[in-house]
Amino acid sequence: MNIAQKPPAKAVAAPRAATKKAKRLDVDLATTKPGTPGGIFMRQFWVAVGRSMDLPKGRAKPIRVMSENFTLYRGESGKAHCIDAACPHRWAQMHLGWVEGDDIRCVYHGWKFDHAGQCVEQPAEEAGFARKVRIGKYPCEEYLGLVWVYFGAGKAPAFPPFPSRDTPGVVDVWNVEHVPCNYLQSFENSMDEVHVAFTHAPGGSHANLSRDLPVISTEETDWGMMRYGKRKTGLVRQTLHYAPNVTRVIVPPLAGMEGVGGWPEIYFSFTPVDDENHLWLIAGHVEVTGDALKAYEAQRAKYHATVAAARPSADVARELMAGEGYYADVRHPDLAIVQDIAVQAGQGRVADRQHEHLGRSDAGIIGWRKILTRELRAIAEGRKPKKWKTPPADVKPTLGF
Ligand code: FES
Ligand SMILES: [Fe+2]
Repeated sequence: MNIAQKPPAKAVAAPRAATKKAKRLDVDLATTKPGTPGGIFMRQFWVAVGRSMDLPKGRAKPIRVMSENFTLYRGESGKAHCIDAACPHRWAQMHLGWVEGDDIRCVYHGWKFDHAGQCVEQPAEEAGFARKVRIGKYPCEEYLGLVWVYFGAGKAPAFPPFPSRDTPGVVDVWNVEHVPCNYLQSFENSMDEVHVAFTHAPGGSHANLSRDLPVISTEETDWGMMRYGKRKTGLVRQTLHYAPNVTRVIVPPLAGMEGVGGWPEIYFSFTPVDDENHLWLIAGHVEVTGDALKAYEAQRAKYHATVAAARPSADVARELMAGEGYYADVRHPDLAIVQDIAVQAGQGRVADRQHEHLGRSDAGIIGWRKILTRELRAIAEGRKPKKWKTPPADVKPTLGF
């Protein structure tokens, strides 16, 4: 580690709640299982479930989101669809079947369902039965290279769920990371700006953000939460947290991408698979056009080849969590991702939020937990939750240095 990579000598203020009695939370902030307050909260929003590029035309695949299984398929028209995982006849898995046009046929006894979920063919049954059978079907759209599904009751909210940059450039979708812990740990980490000076010290990827420690403050908005990180210079790094699980932030380029394209602005979705696993689905906006875009794409192709040849980030992180190898010595083309997974999943599958010692630098986490707790309590007690709005296009993240 060279001097530039060392964590700042002055650590954050000492935790102030160490001696206070642990406060009991009366709602489970982490769960998103169906029917729970957390599950009902999350299902009010569009949720990113995967990358568009991973769903070829005419193919179906199984997905698991918020502890429930579904089938995702792309019709021959190019439209993505999301339906229940199992056929309502005798529960065969629908992803094993055939996509026909924009319909899908079950592999077990050939029942076919149209793009609205209506059963339209039952080869071995009498006419008239099919119209009495439906399969669960969920609104499904695509945006920023990702597939989004609305799993909630009633009409889906406006789509897209948030605006993106309108400046020239490209949207670049990152590799999907499977992270072995609850989604809220990662969403909270995205509100924890102080961690970058320590967690990412080895490798120096975040050196520009680590020169001093920002003072964090937050503000609730009608679309989520704004977080400010004020630097000694007076400059403020502004980050947007869109309810329920998306962080829009400007980040350092991935390893190997320095020098081309600058710092990308990313839309980072933390999608629960179940209560103990989640996905990182990240779309980045990079301001490159013309020749610069060509150079960026060439570098990106090299980066992808390097990452494909390396061991999966989550595997390396798991070894670190198990005490194999030394955190500070690890080298990997996606080092910052390995570091984040090791630290966040290392908190446990579901972090113990009742016995932590939060300090002033945790203002982002405290701010979001207050909002989430209030919302989950309202849902648990049968009161009306907040009416969230689509974020305005003119509120954007800033770099802050
Ligand atoms: S289980 Fe699907 S057609 Fe029988
Ligand atoms: Fe990080």
